Amino acid sequence: MNSPNVAPVVGMVGAGQLARMTQQAAIALGVELRVLANAPDESASRVITQTVLGDYRDLDDLRAFADGCDAVTFDHEHVPGGHIRVLAEAGVAVRPGADALIHAQDKAVMRERLGAIGAPCPAWARVDSVSAVEEFAGENGWPVVLKAVRGGYDGRGVWVVESAGEAAQVLKNGVELIAEAFVPFERELAVLVARSPHGQGVSYPVVETVQEDGICVEVIAPAPDLDAEDAAQAQRIALTIAAELGVTGLLAVEMFQTKTGLVVNELAMRPHNSGHWTIEGARTSQFEQHLRAVLDLPLGSPAMTAPVVVMANLLGGPDPDIFSRYEHVLAHDPGIKLHFYGKEVRPGRKIGHVTALGTDLDDVRARARHAVTCLRGPV
Ligand SMILES: Nc1ncnc2c1ncn2[C@@H]1O[C@H](COP(=O)(O)OP(=O)(O)OP(=O)(O)O)[C@@H](O)[C@H]1O
Ligand SMILES: [Mg+2]
Repeated sequence: MNSPNVAPVVGMVGAGQLARMTQQAAIALGVELRVLANAPDESASRVITQTVLGDYRDLDDLRAFADGCDAVTFDHEHVPGGHIRVLAEAGVAVRPGADALIHAQDKAVMRERLGAIGAPCPAWARVDSVSAVEEFAGENGWPVVLKAVRGGYDGRGVWVVESAGEAAQVLKNGVELIAEAFVPFERELAVLVARSPHGQGVSYPVVETVQEDGICVEVIAPAPDLDAEDAAQAQRIALTIAAELGVTGLLAVEMFQTKTGLVVNELAMRPHNSGHWTIEGARTSQFEQHLRAVLDLPLGSPAMTAPVVVMANLLGGPDPDIFSRYEHVLAHDPGIKLHFYGKEVRPGRKIGHVTALGTDLDDVRARARHAVTCLRGPV
C-alpha cells in the first residue's frame, strides 16, 4: 500500500459496465481507479479519467498499465494466464492470480478442479467427436449440453443437443468442447463471495437468477423460499471454492437447485451480474467489496438493506431512445433506481439495469419489471 496520504491505485483491465460501476465505489472509497480500455467510448472509459488505451492481449501494454498500480484486477476473463504470470513475477499484485483465474477461463479445468475438491457437479467429459458425444449420451442420456471450453458468455457457447446429428452441427464450429449431463433444475441460484489475500471471506445472501434465451433477466435477493440449510450449504460451497482455488477478489458461483440438491454450474471471478442488486440492496456493494478485497483491506458487511431486492436487466429494444421514456419511469415509482451503462442501444444487448427494494416480493418484482419494460419501449 502507498503511504496514508496517497490514494491506493487499482488497475482494472477492461472498460465495460463492471469497471464503470466499480468507479462509483472507488470514488467513495478514495481509491484511484485506472482502466485499460480498447477504445475511448467504452462504457467505463466514458466516465473514468484514468483511462489507458491498449490491448489486454499485449504484454507490453499490460506492463505499462500495471506500473504504479497497488493491485491489478479485471472486468473480464480474457487476459492470457501467461501474461498474468509475467506481471506477478515482476511484483505486480494481480488479483485474482493466474492459477485461480484459469478456473473462470476454462470450463474443463474448472470441472476437473471442482470434482477434485468435492463440489457437486454434473457428469461431464471432454469431447472432440460425434462418437465421443454419443458415448457420453449412452452413459448419461440425451439431451447433452455441449459447452465451448473457453470464451462463452450470455449462453453463447452453450448448446443443448438432442441427437448425434445436432451434436455434429456444433462440432462443425471447430471449438474445443466439453459435454455435460443435462441438469433438470428447478431454478438457478448464484452465490457471491469475496476473499482477500489475508484469507478473510464473506458471502452475500444466495440469490435466484432468472434467465431467458441464455441471458440473465432478473435477480431476486434473497432467493425466495430457499430453506436455511440449502442456503447455508450454497454459501459453504462458494466459500470453500474461493479458499481452495486461492481466489482474491470476488467469486460468483452459479448453481442449479435440483430435487436432489445443489449442482455447481460455473464460476466468475469479478463483479457479476447476479450481484448488481448489492449497489442499493447491501451495506457493501459488490464493487466496493471487490476493491477492498483486491487491496487486501478488511471486507465490508454483506447484510441486506431491505427484506427483498429485485434487479432486472435492461435489454435494448428496437427503439434506441430510452431517455424519452425516462420521465414516466421516474415519476411512476420514486423508489426505483436506474443504472445506465452508456452503451449504444441494440436489440437484446444489456444496456443497464434497475433495482427495486421493498418487503413484498410480488410488489418489488412488479416494480422492477414495469421499469425495464417501459424503458425498453415497444418490441
Ligand atoms: N448442464 C446443464 N444442464 C442444464 N442447463 C444448463 C447446463 N449448463 C448450462 N445450462 C443452461 O445454460 C445457461 C448458460 O450456461 P453457462 O452459465 O455455463 O454459460 P455462459 O454463457 O458461460 O454463462 P453466462 O451467461 O453466465 O456468461 C445456464 O444459465 C443454464 O440455464
Ligand atoms: Mg452462466
